[in-house]
Amino acid sequence: MRRLLVAGNWKMNASVAQTEALLSALCAAEFSCDVAVFPPFPYLAQAVQTTGNSTVRVGAQNVASESSGAFTGEVSASMLADVGCRLALVGHSERRSLYGETDAQVLEKTRQLLANGLTAVVCVGETLEQRQAGREEAVVAEQLALLLRELSNYDWRNIVLAYEPVWAIGTGETATPEQAQAMHAFIRSLLQEKDPALAAATRILYGGSVKAANAAELFAQPDIDGGLVGGASLDATEFSAICQA
Ligand code: G3H
Repeated sequence: MRRLLVAGNWKMNASVAQTEALLSALCAAEFSCDVAVFPPFPYLAQAVQTTGNSTVRVGAQNVASESSGAFTGEVSASMLADVGCRLALVGHSERRSLYGETDAQVLEKTRQLLANGLTAVVCVGETLEQRQAGREEAVVAEQLALLLRELSNYDWRNIVLAYEPVWAIGTGETATPEQAQAMHAFIRSLLQEKDPALAAATRILYGGSVKAANAAELFAQPDIDGGLVGGASLDATEFSAICQA
């Protein structure tokens, strides 16, 4: 069976002191799911050190699509591995909409992560306008098409998918468990077309205003394998409660 994963995306928040406080609290707790945090780049090494031998994994919020060289401001997958990161987010909707990240870059970034032994958490999701036009499945299928075509021969144990409807991110408006389950089942059907084993094993997280109050109901859906949590991951008590859910 798929083990649940709850991941906290801190986005552009935190400080040295907050990183220490948040992670010390998390590491002191015991969870029956996998737990990961995605601090900003400057705090990654500190986060790896603070989490030490605990089961809390540390990941980056982004990664370069190239392996090394003259790419000012970029951070490579090998650098992330070097400081002890185990995962990275790819294609978050904020990267796609604010920084023009394309499906082709998402593919290259995922390749870089896999080549360096890291897990890629690949994010997909539709905007409100796209959902209102009834295009949510088409949009998500399109976002995944290249990945499924190019990476079906790769080891998908190191690929996690995250469905994050853009209209539910940071808005306080969560997809209903039924809406989320429907999309997760659709995503799993896309995997199924490639390989039933892939469909059975790949974890699909839900993201978009997940909080302690709605986590249990979302995570109880058969195709939801955990959550990618933004705002609520900055509060140790709230995030721990989500992990307990
Ligand atoms: O990566 C996390 C998502 O963007 C969700 O953010 O929980 O603040 O809505 P949120």
